[in-house]
Amino acid sequence: MSEQTHIIIAGAGLAGLFTAYALTGRGVKVRVVDPLPPGSGASRAAAGMLAPCYEAVLERPEAGDPLLKACLAARTAWEEVAGPLAEEAGMEIGYDPRPSLARAAADAPAGWLDSVSEYLDELGLPYAPAGEEEMLELPLDGQVDNRAVITALVHLLEARGVDFHRGDLKGVIGGIIVDARGWQGPGASPVKGTAVSLAPHVGLPDRVVRFGNRYLAPKAGRVVLGAVSQAGISDTRVSEEDVQALLGDAAKLYPAVRETEVLERWSGVRPRAQDGLPILGWARTNRYLIGGYFRNGVLLAPLMGQWAASHILDGALPPEAIPFSPDRLSLSAT
Ligand code: GLY
Repeated sequence: MSEQTHIIIAGAGLAGLFTAYALTGRGVKVRVVDPLPPGSGASRAAAGMLAPCYEAVLERPEAGDPLLKACLAARTAWEEVAGPLAEEAGMEIGYDPRPSLARAAADAPAGWLDSVSEYLDELGLPYAPAGEEEMLELPLDGQVDNRAVITALVHLLEARGVDFHRGDLKGVIGGIIVDARGWQGPGASPVKGTAVSLAPHVGLPDRVVRFGNRYLAPKAGRVVLGAVSQAGISDTRVSEEDVQALLGDAAKLYPAVRETEVLERWSGVRPRAQDGLPILGWARTNRYLIGGYFRNGVLLAPLMGQWAASHILDGALPPEAIPFSPDRLSLSAT
């Protein structure tokens, strides 16, 4: 395929933006269309976790699981992309490779942390005891400021000549379309998430801490506390009950949560395929699907963008990406 090819990307979230990053890196002309400003959906709502290990602790996949393998590879991809991305954009992106901490939630059963270390041992994933052994340090789990990444990518892509267009696919004829529309794209269904951010305060953690299915993620100027998860819901109104559940769970471990200001509260919608795996591949001639990143959107976006670009341009896809083919999904109209 000629590298002068014009490719249209539908969806200006991180999945689409990182695909544009990879394609324009190969000299391809790209147009990004979205009815909303870039990064208005799940990419903005996310907390920027780069967390293959703790997400595995939550989901308990077996060794060799294709999503776990992709998440580990994606963590390495972030290590490689973070510096060049920040440099080309001329902006900070809050990439923070310091190990995250895992600790038991206040209502966790006795022995929970031991069960985590046993599981990580089984999978051969690294960890180290921390905090008088009440916590585990997860050296592969870091974070990035997802909102800063959106800003940096848009700036960089505009400088590379990408045309950002507010609109949908109506009237688009011919050419290749990369469908990166998140939960609204083919094969994905919505999983609502709710999070809040807190003003930094003494007594709040200074690096990412995971406890049960909650996390505190300190970023420049805010500490993100997430996340409530509700399958099948795409309504982004924030429920006060969900906000109080988050604050209550966090305050049991970090009483400073009650002493600081809540800066922002929001809900977003994660895209999830029926089997929880990402979606990557041709749906039909000229229609390429990328998405379904579910809980690992920020983590997976750079690697999946690279994979999509080499699949589209060279016809080459690594074997690790085969399980993510849309062929496994029963897609209606795409
Ligand atoms: N990645 C964390 C979440 O989806 O809540």
